[in-house]
Amino acid sequence: MGVIISFINLKGGVGKTTCCANIAGELARENRKVLVIDTDPQANVSTLLMGPKRYQQKFGYELDENDIYRDTIYQLFLDAMEDNENKKRFNFGTAIIKSVVRRTIQGKEIRPLTQLDLLPATSHLMQLEQKIVNYVRSRFAILSKFLEQIKDYYDFILIDCPPNIYTTTHNSLYASDYFIIPTIPDYLSISGIPLLVNSLNKTIEIKREEKNASVKLAGILINLLDTRINVHKDGLQRIRRLLEIFKQENMVDENSIVFRSIITNKVDIKKASGKYLPVCVDKPRSDSTMEFRNLCHEILNIISK
Ligand SMILES: Nc1ncnc2c1ncn2[C@@H]1O[C@H](COP(=O)(O)OP(=O)(O)OP(=O)(O)O)[C@@H](O)[C@H]1O
Ligand SMILES: [Mg+2]
Repeated sequence: MGVIISFINLKGGVGKTTCCANIAGELARENRKVLVIDTDPQANVSTLLMGPKRYQQKFGYELDENDIYRDTIYQLFLDAMEDNENKKRFNFGTAIIKSVVRRTIQGKEIRPLTQLDLLPATSHLMQLEQKIVNYVRSRFAILSKFLEQIKDYYDFILIDCPPNIYTTTHNSLYASDYFIIPTIPDYLSISGIPLLVNSLNKTIEIKREEKNASVKLAGILINLLDTRINVHKDGLQRIRRLLEIFKQENMVDENSIVFRSIITNKVDIKKASGKYLPVCVDKPRSDSTMEFRNLCHEILNIISK
């Protein structure tokens, strides 16, 4: 049974995409079958895993605008709002890009992570908010309903969310078993977390009422730590205290943690992203690879509880 995990934060640039892609890479390297879903019109995780050249080839040069997004998550949402069965076009078989990560060695393309697939997004997804205004039937349950069909094919489905809490984020959360909040341990990043948790809890409650199923905070993931900065050290303490308060007020699951495995600010991560590879493929023996590996083990531990 596949486990669905969303990476969510209202705050931009905290590493949702980077952590989602690298955790996916590490899980796939450990031979788990992983699907990454892009629910952000910025399409960052799609570009990061496909590389801009393949992304452009697939989504950049089509003549008919409507055909560009046919094999993306946007079409999945459009189909859900379409009553005419003949007009539905989304097909998991063609939309999902199998063994998405590629690298070229001595002129030959290889697939270093055969177990890692992608359901991509394009910027067209930005139009969803206007289109969905008049659609009232279970508007947060759309993605969840689709994923029921493929959930068991994967060990993990990881969803990269945009830096907002609009339709796709609510859909991702509703579809998930767990969510992870990546954050930078600085004042501005931390101060938005209570608002975020409160907003997400409304959707979690809707899911509980509609499906009698839970979505749990697996944990808060500290990313981009720079130990030279005192503010970051203080930030770590603040995040731990915040989680305790959330637990006292029953705002999060009692097993939620601040992950002990912290992802530090490292040039290896940037370099790997610049080559459109997870760091475990680009630098298998780097500190960053070890940090993501330890983090994956903590995640596996949480979800086995
Ligand atoms: N641990 C890290 N070490 C070095 N650079 C990092 C690290 N984590 C993220 N970055 C860099 O920080 C920037 C923001 O990261 P990323 O795009 O993953 O954030 P995001 O939360 O997904 O942003 P958005 O809110 O726009 O979706 C990127 O340039 C990324 O390469
Ligand atoms: Mg992102």
